[in-house]
Amino acid sequence: MQNKKIILGVSGGIASYKACDLASLLVKDNYKVQTILTDSAQKFISALTFKTITYNDCYTNQFDYDIVEPLHIEMCREADLLVLAPATANLIAKMANGIADDLLTTLICAYSSKKPILLAPAMNTAMWENPIVQANLKTITENLNCTIINPIEGQLACRTEGIGKLAEVENIYKQAVSLLSKNSSNLQLPILPEGEWSGLKVLITAGGTKEPIDPVRFLGNRSSGKMGLALADEAYKKGADIILITTQKALKRNYKIIEVETAHELQKAVESYFDTCQILIMSAAVSDFRPLQVFASKVKKSRSESDWYLPLTKNPDILETLGRLKKENQILIGFAAESDNLIQNARKKLENKKLDLIVANQVDNTEIGFGSDYNEVYLLTQKDNSEEIILPKNTKTQIAFQILEFVQDKFLKC
Ligand code: CTP
Repeated sequence: MQNKKIILGVSGGIASYKACDLASLLVKDNYKVQTILTDSAQKFISALTFKTITYNDCYTNQFDYDIVEPLHIEMCREADLLVLAPATANLIAKMANGIADDLLTTLICAYSSKKPILLAPAMNTAMWENPIVQANLKTITENLNCTIINPIEGQLACRTEGIGKLAEVENIYKQAVSLLSKNSSNLQLPILPEGEWSGLKVLITAGGTKEPIDPVRFLGNRSSGKMGLALADEAYKKGADIILITTQKALKRNYKIIEVETAHELQKAVESYFDTCQILIMSAAVSDFRPLQVFASKVKKSRSESDWYLPLTKNPDILETLGRLKKENQILIGFAAESDNLIQNARKKLENKKLDLIVANQVDNTEIGFGSDYNEVYLLTQKDNSEEIILPKNTKTQIAFQILEFVQDKFLKC
């Protein structure tokens, strides 16, 4: 029997009706759900619907109560989790700026910055990509104990395709349950956000290594580092202690970042932190070869044609080495970048490198993978040699979230 209390704040957008399914899932799980609808939400859905689904009051008016304390104060005191789904750009803006001009925003303002909030935005793509909306979200995550479950890509009500659809209700529900499974009332303000992964040390590599030929040129690959960065951001949101080793420059994050360029530098950095980490995610595209010789000065095109070849030597396979050194309690996750026979080649790498999980992606599709903001991947594990699982095309942030949820379910649960 659950006795945890959830406030479900619904703002007005076409996705408002999906909050009914969310309320229903939570009630079936025996959570006590109290709903607040904004004025705009009531244009899409009625208070009676929520009252019926939750067997509980649904509030729409700040002054409509018959208790001694103001309604928003009483509700805040009792709540274990505040879920805002869907959250419109307007609600997000008010929240980021401390505006309190109706019941929901007043309650958000009065809600403790230590208690957990789950925010599920939904809006038109241009609104989602608006830098002001993004800046508001950043303010919220920096100041409140708020987990954002990003919108997904799809056909929007405004008859366009893009990111902005409310995340799957099932995923919002799972995230809410996992936030509630902690004693969330005791959470501290998130310098390192508390979460399901708090105490876990996660080492992540990202980007594509560059192997110098001369002071101007290098051997490289098309990896942008976005997937690894998304994994680091999502693991950080779960409360993990992150070290990101990346070829990207000047990233600003609240976790430790080590900038590297070559495979050799990456290897040195990974090996110096590997012993103390519980999870290693090697999403970096490591160059398999490097020029045998690095020229001290720029190679001129006037060079004799007989010298126009570039002898290469092999770089060490970092992950394969670590697969052999790995301890019982360590989880090793690799990526497989393939242009052909995706699943067979990924499974070979999974076995040869003694990995717990491999994330396979097709790299010859320009709409996903290298450089893109989207990805579509398959997850393969050694355990029970089961079928691969597909994570269909989605933003890298969402794919990262799903990979970590999978890791959590498969390896971190007793
Ligand atoms: N990897 C590594 N060291 C290397 C090459 C790859 O640690 N020298 C890691 C990558 O970070 C990735 C995994 O091994 O997690 C698979 O990398 P990938 O480039 O797909 O495959 P390779 O093992 O390099 O094999 P091939 O290039 O022949 O497909």
